[in-house]
Amino acid sequence: MTDTIYGEYVPALEAVLNDLVRRIQAYNEKEKKQNGEAAYEHLIYRLKSQDSMTAKCRRKGLPQIPHSAVHDIRDAIGLRIVCRFIDDIYVNVNYIKAFTECRVVQEKDYIKHVKPNGYRSYHMIIELTEPYKDVDGVNPGHFFAEIQIRTIAMDSWASLEHQMKYKHDIQNPEMIVRELKRCADELAACDVSMQTIRNLIHTVQ
Ligand code: GTP
Ligand code: MG
Repeated sequence: MTDTIYGEYVPALEAVLNDLVRRIQAYNEKEKKQNGEAAYEHLIYRLKSQDSMTAKCRRKGLPQIPHSAVHDIRDAIGLRIVCRFIDDIYVNVNYIKAFTECRVVQEKDYIKHVKPNGYRSYHMIIELTEPYKDVDGVNPGHFFAEIQIRTIAMDSWASLEHQMKYKHDIQNPEMIVRELKRCADELAACDVSMQTIRNLIHTVQ
């Protein structure tokens, strides 16, 4: 497989992604055994498609070559962890920070710093050292991955908003933006209430 924007690096990217998924699933199993509650509700992941990566390189003015796709753009490997409660987001963040051969290179807390449109999520870019040759010819190589961590409510809003973003023929777009923001804030208020209810139940127990 050298005919893609990822060149010869597809097997390494897949292996790094699988290893990361396995590590996340492992702490979730441990958490379930120890506390009787999972660290997250579900985990999804993907290697960014060739077409999306090619388009992103073009958009960013980068040459459409493996070095751009695997090194300059850092979300070829992408994972999303969807949690039930707000506090669980930070539990997951801390588990990931404790991984060996893993360095956090960027963190964006769009929960404490909500985007103007109402988008909420916790984003991390991590750099993993793994036993595969990277685009600089180094082995063990350095590979990047983007992890998005959010609640079910944040995830449902993001998914619907993402879908509507591409509808450009809507009338009264200002009203739509305002309504979407209102929905995001209402969902966020529910997340806070659900967290409070959970805390109350835990205190009683
Ligand atoms: P990129 O150049 O695309 O990597 O953007 P960035 O570096 O500014 O990244 P950021 O961390 O802000 O966002 C990256 C990803 O988060 C996007 O590809 C989306 O999956 C998600 N995201 C960020 N903002 C929004 C938003 O307003 N709505 C939705 N639905 N998703 C968002
Ligand atoms: Mg990004």
